[in-house]
Amino acid sequence: MTNVIMLGPPGSGKGTQAERLSHTYGWPQISTGNILRHAIEAKTELGLKAKDAMDAGELVSDEIVDGIVAERISHDDCIKGFILDGFPRDLIQAKALDEIRKIDVVFDIRVPEEELVERLSMRRVCDCGETYHLKYNPPQKEGVCNSCGRKLYHREDDKVETIRHRLQVYHSQTEPLIHYYSGKGVLVDIDGTKHIDDVFKNIVSNLPDEAKQ
Ligand code: AP5
Ligand code: MG
Ligand code: ZN
Repeated sequence: MTNVIMLGPPGSGKGTQAERLSHTYGWPQISTGNILRHAIEAKTELGLKAKDAMDAGELVSDEIVDGIVAERISHDDCIKGFILDGFPRDLIQAKALDEIRKIDVVFDIRVPEEELVERLSMRRVCDCGETYHLKYNPPQKEGVCNSCGRKLYHREDDKVETIRHRLQVYHSQTEPLIHYYSGKGVLVDIDGTKHIDDVFKNIVSNLPDEAKQ
């Protein structure tokens, strides 16, 4: 069993790398951001509760996301491991997670702030979960997803002002987790400025031995 956390600021490549890991190793990618966006799209009660916070770049309440994750990792497909993308986001969530699962490795993907803003303002996403970048990872056909053919869109929270606010929220609430997981001996620093393929290689080479068998 290999339980992985992708840590790192907005735009560092958590989703991009989690998806590759999931394709390669078969562990499900559990993105709280994607789960919440689907709930908003479907106008469920959860979506209604999350929408304002998400659009403003604030965190959704711990109670809501802790519940989502506890439920999701109880599914059978998590038996050999899972990849958490976007969770935990603060110490309360990290401690709630400690109560239910042991974490094997936490990848802290590092990218300087100005590059994050550029990445997010030029990001395009698909509802199927694929992520593109107009310059660094463009779709084969403009505006259309390579894997499912649907129309790509610019996330509501990817406006420059909201990106800046998300970065502030990251510094005040999420960054303390670096120290928390480093103290547990499971943190691995990843240089997120390299090419997507090279970042992936570095992540793979830092997986625990049992994952590679
Ligand atoms: P969430 O969806 O998790 O957003 P985020 O953390 O802000 O991170 P992003 O998805 O923006 O970035 P990423 O690191 O996944 O980067 P990506 O791979 O796309 O959360 C959204 C909101 O939901 C939160 O603000 C909050 O409201 C709520 N929420 C979610 N989880 C929560 C929780 N646990 N608690 C409370 N609230 C929660 O890459 C970015 C771009 O760069 C792409 O265009 C990509 O193609 C490109 N790129 C990636 N890697 C590279 C590379 N190496 N070189 C060049 N370009 C690259
Ligand atoms: Mg993401
Ligand atoms: Zn798609």
